[in-house]
Amino acid sequence: MAGVAKTLTLANGITIPSIGFGTWQTPDGDIAAESVKNAIEAGYRHIDTAQAYGNEAGVGEGIRMSGIDRSELFVTTKLTNDNHTYELTKSSFKKSLEDLGLDYVDLFLIHWPRPLRFRDNWQRANEETWRAMEELVDDGRIRAIGLSNFHRHHIDALLQTARIKPVVNQIRLCPGCTQDELVNYSRECGMMPEAYSPLGTGKIFNVDEVKAMADRYGKSVAQLCIRWSLQMGFIPLPKSVNADRIRENLDVYDFEISAEDMNILTGLTECAGGAPDPDNMPF
Ligand code: A2P
Repeated sequence: MAGVAKTLTLANGITIPSIGFGTWQTPDGDIAAESVKNAIEAGYRHIDTAQAYGNEAGVGEGIRMSGIDRSELFVTTKLTNDNHTYELTKSSFKKSLEDLGLDYVDLFLIHWPRPLRFRDNWQRANEETWRAMEELVDDGRIRAIGLSNFHRHHIDALLQTARIKPVVNQIRLCPGCTQDELVNYSRECGMMPEAYSPLGTGKIFNVDEVKAMADRYGKSVAQLCIRWSLQMGFIPLPKSVNADRIRENLDVYDFEISAEDMNILTGLTECAGGAPDPDNMPF
């Protein structure tokens, strides 16, 4: 069976579970807490949140409710768009830790490269932001730092001044949205691709071809897509607030998609939405 390890090693040597639990669009409070607790009970050891999701407090509550030892978890959060620059990175990161109830995170990402607020001086803003993140690594508050939604020109600009290299680029990746050039370039620069919206935020469930293929494998559409992501070498971050689906989405290590079917899934161009343009997002 094609190697899809349950854990992977980032370029800085730290271990990351190969499937993360996504929480974008998960409401804060009981829903976030319950779903994170359910995910950990189901076996997830990697949780992905962000300042912009507004649910760090609920995610932290779920982690505590699970009773699991902190050292067994891999927790990611991301810097929101208005918080670029040195001071705001430091102060908002402190608030993230408080909201999560943690004293460190495993991975901290710049969520978007070119926010509206810094559209004309984004290179400078990212340079300062990154310096603050590097200091937080030095202080032991973050184990790895990385990027999200960065394209080649954003990566190149950041690498000109980065002392610590980014180890992840988290981008939208699902069947039919493979961003090949960006994935290859991210890898060349030492970053592992993480796949947000690996189910096309739910749109993939409307694609008949995917449903028929999933039936052939005796798996659900979600399982087929998550498995596709793993076989592509991505780290998928499926989101769910439903306990049964949360369990289902982790049960993907016992089958293999053939090379032919991998190609079919990859080639379903924009069947579940395309990639965003990070230079022109309205936020
Ligand atoms: P829900 O949270 O109600 O389960 P993505 O990870 O691409 O952002 O997709 C998330 C969307 O897919 C959500 O609407 C989520 O709904 C839904 N979803 C997640 N897992 C499954 C599943 N196994 N079966 C059906 N829908 C799912």
